[in-house]
Amino acid sequence: MHRLIMSRSWVVVLALVAILHVNLVRAARLPSQGKQLLDNNFAAVVPQDVDVDVDDVRGGGIVSLVRLAFAGINDQGRSTGVSISWSTPANMDPGAFKSVVLMGTEPGNFSIRHENTGEKSQVTYLPGGSAHHHVVVLDLLPGTRYYYKCGDDSDMTLMSKEFSFVTEPEDISKTSFTVAVWGDMGQGECSNGTRTQLAKKYGEYDWAWHLGDIAYQDDWLFFDKAAYEGVLDDYMASMEFITATKPYMVLPGNHEVDCHSMFCILDSTYRNALRNFTAYNARWRMPSEETGGVMNMWYSFNYGPAHFVSMDAETDFPGAYENVHDEFFLLDSGHFNPTPNAYLEWLERDLRGVNRTQRPWLIAAGHRPMYLYENATVLRAAVEDLLVKYDVDLYLSGHIHRYYRTYPARDGQCVKGYTAEDREGRVVNIVTGGPGAIDRPMMGLGAAWTKAKGWLAGGGWGAGGVDQDLVAKETTEKSFGLLSVMNATAIRWELVSGVTGDTIDELVLTK
Ligand SMILES: *[C@@H]1O[C@H](CO)[C@@H](O)[C@H](O)[C@H]1NC(C)=O
Ligand SMILES: *[C@@H]1O[C@H](CO)[C@@H](O)[C@H](O)[C@H]1NC(C)=O
Ligand SMILES: *[C@@H]1O[C@H](CO)[C@@H](O)[C@H](O)[C@H]1NC(C)=O
Ligand SMILES: *[C@@H]1O[C@H](CO)[C@@H](O)[C@H](O)[C@H]1NC(C)=O
Ligand SMILES: *[C@@H]1O[C@H](CO)[C@@H](O)[C@H](O)[C@H]1NC(C)=O
Ligand SMILES: *[C@@H]1O[C@H](CO)[C@@H](O)[C@H](O)[C@H]1NC(C)=O
Ligand SMILES: [Fe+2]
Repeated sequence: MHRLIMSRSWVVVLALVAILHVNLVRAARLPSQGKQLLDNNFAAVVPQDVDVDVDDVRGGGIVSLVRLAFAGINDQGRSTGVSISWSTPANMDPGAFKSVVLMGTEPGNFSIRHENTGEKSQVTYLPGGSAHHHVVVLDLLPGTRYYYKCGDDSDMTLMSKEFSFVTEPEDISKTSFTVAVWGDMGQGECSNGTRTQLAKKYGEYDWAWHLGDIAYQDDWLFFDKAAYEGVLDDYMASMEFITATKPYMVLPGNHEVDCHSMFCILDSTYRNALRNFTAYNARWRMPSEETGGVMNMWYSFNYGPAHFVSMDAETDFPGAYENVHDEFFLLDSGHFNPTPNAYLEWLERDLRGVNRTQRPWLIAAGHRPMYLYENATVLRAAVEDLLVKYDVDLYLSGHIHRYYRTYPARDGQCVKGYTAEDREGRVVNIVTGGPGAIDRPMMGLGAAWTKAKGWLAGGGWGAGGVDQDLVAKETTEKSFGLLSVMNATAIRWELVSGVTGDTIDELVLTK
């Protein structure tokens, strides 16, 4: 038995070496600034028949990777504005460029000028690396299209192209909207199909929620240490057609924690600059200040008749997977709690604070599932009781690179129906980690790959531990979700194929 397992392991090792070799050959072409790779591929990735102008979705000039997120909160709990973030080139003096947003309600007519001169206006985390600018613009009118440019307005050639986005409609009780949801994506070919479908359906969603494991920049193990930044840039550029025009909300996954390419680990500058979720926290600006959260680790926001909780499944709860060091025991991480237990206290406060008359739908998401993989019990023990206590309707996650929808579950038990009564005291779990992470080709290895994952990571991210009794629907087809909040009494979940664009799964929940 033991010998059999060993020989299978070696088959897997050889397969991994072969696959890594293919990657090695491919990535030998990866320029140190990965954006260039994307420039070559971008037109192919986004089909021409969508209502985004492909040539118009790049920052242009010195401005790149333009990204929006919800920002601000008023006494009604509404986001009153957006944060606009972008990046400027490496190897410039810190502060070489201003952080300015020009905005208005008509194309080309910018009546609003916001400059951030504060400490967090631009962040460089890697010595000599690119700078990441953040400007928050508040007090926007609801239901309005805003046009903007970002960059340094001391010279208009240092500004981005003009982009636009639409703010949340005025009457939240009548707001129906759709969120594109996925985890575990990554750049390049594996996720190309999903990216194509997201572009084809560009008009069908209002904003996007990426549930961790964003670009897989850490997994380019045999490359130059610059691959980390290059791959991350590449991914962000490939998604700019969404991120510059719709809020793109992110949460931390295990692939955000650090670099673990050997060249990176061996270089103390890179190692120290890229550990402990640093790039992740520097590149985005999620609304945590507004909602009592911490950095981009945990925060919440409202949209229409729904409250969204962005959870941290990696650090700062008992047994958290990356609270002391990353999963490879290489680099220190975690301890974002400002006081002991602050994260779980915040989570309870946030869930308790939702006015369910005003916002009947309560949707939570974290990178890791509470079910369906070997180590899910660690997270479940920490948060499931809270999610049940405050009647969370859906818990969305990724991490496992496929799709699962559970029956309403609690404590490992479920009821095989989705009526309001069936869901009472239970949470519907959806794992949507299959848009095309870089390990997808390895899934072709079937059982051997499942075994290899268990063997490589001690089961931590293997697909073992699946209790089939809980599973209502599963697929390994590349896919992403569209979550539509239709009104105060109905939401619809749809799983869309990243191959054909067809609907693979559908679930309607009503109150
Ligand atoms: C990405 O998908 C598009 C549309 O299916 C295809 O035309 C293109 O060749 C693909 N690109 C890569 C790099 O696979
Ligand atoms: C520009 O916008 C301002 C304020 O929204 C408006 O008063 C002004 O008439 C606009 N200018 C032009 C040329 O449209
Ligand atoms: C589960 O996670 C805990 C805490 O991070 C870790 O100590 C343990 O080794 C993990 N177990 C498996 C099977 O991966
Ligand atoms: C990780 O970063 C957080 C926030 O800056 C900090 O509080 C914590 O101490 C850091 N953890 C380690 C292990 O350096
Ligand atoms: C909850 O929202 C409803 C509807 O907007 C409002 O009438 C009620 O006063 C709110 N309750 C609390 C406790 O704020
Ligand atoms: C809510 O939306 C569902 C699905 O579109 C619809 O059947 C239902 O009538 C709507 N309810 C209200 C109160 O508008
Ligand atoms: Fe993950």
